[in-house]
Parts: sequence; C-alpha cells; structure tokens
Amino acid sequence: MIGRTNGRPVSITGLGVHVPERIVTNDDLAAIVETSDEWITERTGIRERRIAADDEAMSDLSLPAARQALEQAGLTADAIDLVIVATVTPDMAFPATAALVADQLGAHDAAAYDLSAGCTGFMYALAQAHAMIAAGLSKRALVVGGDILSRVLDWTDRSTLILFGDGAGAVVLEQVNEGGFLGFELGADGAGAGELHLPGSGSRIPAEGEKEFLTMNGREVFKFATRVLVTSAEAILETCELTVDDVDVYVPHQANVRIIDHAVRKLGFPGEKVVVNVDRYGNTSSGSIPLALADAVADGRLRPGSLVLMTGMGAGLTWGSALMHWTLPTNGAS
Ligand code: ACO
Repeated sequence: MIGRTNGRPVSITGLGVHVPERIVTNDDLAAIVETSDEWITERTGIRERRIAADDEAMSDLSLPAARQALEQAGLTADAIDLVIVATVTPDMAFPATAALVADQLGAHDAAAYDLSAGCTGFMYALAQAHAMIAAGLSKRALVVGGDILSRVLDWTDRSTLILFGDGAGAVVLEQVNEGGFLGFELGADGAGAGELHLPGSGSRIPAEGEKEFLTMNGREVFKFATRVLVTSAEAILETCELTVDDVDVYVPHQANVRIIDHAVRKLGFPGEKVVVNVDRYGNTSSGSIPLALADAVADGRLRPGSLVLMTGMGAGLTWGSALMHWTLPTNGAS
C-alpha cells in the first residue's frame, strides 16, 4: 500500500521516549552465553541495551513516554480521542495495553487498541492515526511504539539474545497549518512469517519450552531487511516526487548497524544525515524509530521543516516508510 497524503496537513506535535534504567553491556551478556563484546560490536554495532525490570510491563514504558509527548504538544490527556499502542509484547493479550494507557493517562472515552506489525508497528500506527485524523474521525491521536522483547528471548540463545533491547516512544498527531506527513508506504509478506516469530504466543501452539521464545533465521532476516530498507525508501520517495538529496534526516529501523550501512550505501545518503543509536539501545522493535527521532531532535539535526524519511521492518515479514516535514521545535524532546 502506498500513497501521498492529501487534505489539511497532519503532523507530530509532541514526542516522548522512555527506556528502562538497567543497562546491559555486551560484556554482561558474555557472562551469560558464549559470546564477546568484539563479536557483537563487529557483527551488529550494538554495545549495550536497556532491559526492563521484572515488574516493568509495556504500559509502564508507554506512560512516561506518552506524558512527555503530551506535555510537548501542550495538551492534556482529555484532548486525545485515539490511542494506538504498537507492540508485540503487550502487558497481556487482552485487554489492549492501549486501553490501560488511555485510562492511566486520563484519555477517557478515547478509542484505544494495540497494533501488531512486528518492529514495523510504529510505522503502521503512524499511518493509521494519520488516516483517522485526515478522515475527520479523530482530532488528536497518541501513538506509542515499543516492546519488552527481553521477556520473550531465550536467555541461553546467543544468536538472538545479543540483538534486542527494551524501550518505547510516543508521539501526538494532530492537524497543523503546514508541514507534516507527505506519504506512507506499508507492506507485508506473510510467506516469510517463519523467519522471525514467537510460535507459542497465540491460538495455534501452546507456549511451552522453546516455543515460548522469539525464533529468528538471522541470515534470511538480514537479506530481507537490507532489501526492503532500500525498496521501501525508493518507492515512497518516487511517489512523493522527491529524491534522496531532498531528505535532511534518514531514520532507519535500528536493528543492526551493518543493515543500516548497507541501505545507506545503496540509497546514497551521506553519513551525517543518518540517525544511528543501535549502539546504545540494541533493537527495541517498535520503540526504535521514535527513540531515534528523539536523538535526532536532541542533537539538533531534526529541525522544523526538515524532511525526514523513516523506514521500519520486522516480523510478518513487514515493512513501512513515511516521509514528513518535521514540525516540532528542536529543544523540545527529552
Ligand atoms: N557470539 C559469538 N558467536 C556467535 C553469536 C554470538 N552472539 N551468534 C552466532 N554466532 C556464531 C554462529 O554460531 C556461527 O558460528 P559457526 O560458523 O561456527 O556456525 C557464526 O557466529 C556466524 O553466524 P552467522 O549467523 O552466520 O553470523 P552473521 O554474520 O549472519 O550474523 C546476525 C548474525 C548478527 C544475527 C545477523 O545475521 C543479523 O544481524 N541478522 C539480522 C537480525 C536482525 O536484525 N533481526 C531483527 C530485524 S527485524 C526486526 O527488527 C524485528
């Protein structure tokens, strides 16, 4: 699915992020499984990640991020009429974490639901919220993206344990006078479902033994990720009649620095336009893009008017890109 937005512009007017306090370094993991800081850094670019406390659930990461986003937008929660939480690690299968978040924020009567599109969830949720606002169904939406994948990792499996971290980000979307989203490209290929999945997490397979854990074919996911980061970016740029040269800030999903480097080379982005924070957070799934946006605001690269290209990809297999003119002031995000 691909398209340019039309009608009155819709943009992000508030951004917030939250990560757990506990930092786990590569050396910490090397004490648990047979690996090394050198191997992890060389193959992935990851140096450390945040890991949630035992009593910390997805809504606990979502709330502080959401409160920051609301504060930055200058809104109270009762102004929000739609809450979408993009996650594959909700507090529980039902009720939706979004309903819990809406209640705790005080967004009473807001429509609230979770969205499952793997690491691409945040991109799908942005597109949905945008469409709801553009269609006149919603006035102001809160979109949260994040995961606590540490909960579904096999802590004895070095091939997956080293890649992921926990974290969340939240944005407020509403109509603005200028700037905002120019277009979206979203896709899925269910034939690749088995390359990255959590088998014992639903109605087909009981959650027992190894089926309780995230399972990944690293090489296939690597090939898929390098391909779609390029094709999705090219497609949305072409649809919006823009080129890589027009883009000021490129925010790819933070899975692995080698995947990002590959896309950057193929697309032809100069390094200074590319946001990379996978070294500090690992792959935070749907938290990855909002965390990277917050870093780009904090370091002054993302300014009002900047053209930003974001591309996510993940389980499904899914992918999604958005192009937008940034509207927030630079000193806002924390
Ligand atoms: N430490 C040390 N050695 C390891 C580790 C580790 N943590 N993990 C694997 N190895 C070993 C393997 O056992 C293998 O050993 P062998 O040759 O004796 O059999 C060797 O290292 C090479 O293994 P490969 O799997 O071929 O290593 P590769 O270079 O492909 O890197 C990696 C593996 C990092 C997982 C890579 O395939 C990758 O990044 N894939 C994409 C994963 C990803 O990003 N997934 C999520 C993206 S989508 C989303 O965000 C949901």
